[in-house]
Amino acid sequence: MKKITQIIVLLLSVVVVMVVVYRLVNTAPSKELPINKQVVTIIDNGGCLTCHSTSPKVPFYSTWPIIGKMVVEDTKMALKQIDLDEVYMSISSGQPAGEVAMAKIEKSTIDGTMPPRNFSMVHWGSSITSAKKSILLEWIVSERATNYNLGLSSPEFANEPVQPIPAALKTDPDKVALGKALYNDTRLSSDNTVSCATCHGLNTGGVDNDSFSEGVGGALGGVNAPTVYNSVFNFVQFWDGRAATLALQAAGPPLNPVEMANKSFDDIVIRLLKDRSFTASFLKVYPHGYSEETITDAIAEYEKTLLTPDSRFDLYLKGDDSAITPAEKEGYRTFKKYECATCHTGVILGGQSYELIGLVNDYFADRGTELTVEDNGRFKETSIERDRHRFKVPGLRNVALTWPYFHDATQSTLEDAVRAMGHYQLGIEFTDSEVASMVSFMNTLTGKFEGETLTNTNQKPELK
Ligand code: HEC
Ligand code: HEC
Ligand code: HEC
Repeated sequence: MKKITQIIVLLLSVVVVMVVVYRLVNTAPSKELPINKQVVTIIDNGGCLTCHSTSPKVPFYSTWPIIGKMVVEDTKMALKQIDLDEVYMSISSGQPAGEVAMAKIEKSTIDGTMPPRNFSMVHWGSSITSAKKSILLEWIVSERATNYNLGLSSPEFANEPVQPIPAALKTDPDKVALGKALYNDTRLSSDNTVSCATCHGLNTGGVDNDSFSEGVGGALGGVNAPTVYNSVFNFVQFWDGRAATLALQAAGPPLNPVEMANKSFDDIVIRLLKDRSFTASFLKVYPHGYSEETITDAIAEYEKTLLTPDSRFDLYLKGDDSAITPAEKEGYRTFKKYECATCHTGVILGGQSYELIGLVNDYFADRGTELTVEDNGRFKETSIERDRHRFKVPGLRNVALTWPYFHDATQSTLEDAVRAMGHYQLGIEFTDSEVASMVSFMNTLTGKFEGETLTNTNQKPELK
């Protein structure tokens, strides 16, 4: 009996000592440090770059059997989710961290998922204690306030991952007028049949609702057309990000053989020069006349006016509590709970990072059709293996109007798209009511263009 008591006391003391030591080695960084240095210290101590780096500092036991395999698997999965190298560099040098990175770090901090339990059990200084947690969350609040909040949301929602669209951006009205005319002008295409508006109709959600768009002579493209509305808020343009700006984007379709099919911009210039009155107006704004540069500049200026502010959700964020229903509020909570707002974040709920389709389950294996060049996504541009099947995350503004969904148009309804996101990105099969709830939230994202709530004159596909 006595012996057992002794053993118990001994064990208890060992536990107490362990807890004390654990506390001692796992202190939060000093509050004296600037906030970014505190965050850097937490990331260093958290071993975050052991797993989330393209050149990970692999621990010595990574060659051991079993444990080694776990480390390799963890690193692979971790890097699929987020590469923290660049984020780490930005934070260290006091530069803003990206909105997506912050949303992801915020989510994993609140959920207490990082670093993984098996890691923090071995690396005692790594786990995120409540003191570290408050530092990280405070840092995110201040970063968002300084760098990303446009001051449109009510104070209550100032730190939400989603923020309202501004009513207007600064533009040059003369250029806008020319850009608008060009946007709707079929003379931009080789046979005078196709304009930008053919595939990006403003009364059809800024898309054509076709799986693949039809260009000159009925030629089909290889990816689904994204919306032009709010495209100015994308960090780059196209699914694979191959155009850095709207003007560079606008140079694409005129020369694309499956879109407007011109041999060169000179073909367009020749056609436009025949129009004396338009040419005169153009020369007033662009004294050097028509060129690829001036034409695309005008179109890009016009696209900056294609904003859809004041969706019901934005009115809610701006402080009108009754703008959305309790069920729709619940939908937004569900959307955040399932990590949707980590990739679909910011003013347009996306358009800010390249992400892998099929993080957890293999999307392309299930699709059952052959891989196309377009399926490579960002890899097409970079040839970096990690970029294969990574796409610019589509924004979700007006998403109720922009069916079908995904780069390959495989999802005909919003319900399908949400279910697929659950399965492929998270490995979760949503219940019907969860799907309906998130869709009800997304329906509140339809905004106003020139004062009128957007609608779509095309027939919406039926639910299966
Ligand atoms: C032992 C390797 C390892 C370490 C160390 C690690 N992570 Fe992770 N991390 C992972 C893995 C594996 C996943 C994917 C987890 C999943 O899908 O369940 C992940 C996912 C994430 C995600 C995506 C969102 C999420 O919660 O799933 C974020 C953000 C993240 N980690 C941040 C961090 C930060 C910050 C640290 C340091 C405090 C860290 N990680 C340390 C392995 C690691
Ligand atoms: C034949 C149909 C077609 C025509 C004509 C067309 N587009 Fe597109 N547009 C698309 C498709 C398809 C994509 C996606 C291509 C990709 O990502 O590789 C796209 C992409 C875009 C994007 C990028 C949006 C995003 O989220 O990445 C913008 C902006 C855009 N088009 C504007 C224009 C403008 C401006 C014109 C006229 C100069 C134009 N489009 C002409 C079909 C068309
Ligand atoms: C890891 C990043 C990530 C997460 C998390 C994520 N998405 Fe996505 N989402 C994407 C990418 C990438 C695409 C484009 C996929 C493609 O086209 O192949 C996409 C596409 C979509 C689309 C289709 C949009 C369109 O115009 O085609 C919807 C709707 C959507 N996601 C909703 C959600 C919802 C709801 C959740 C949460 C359950 C979620 N997403 C979670 C990255 C993510």
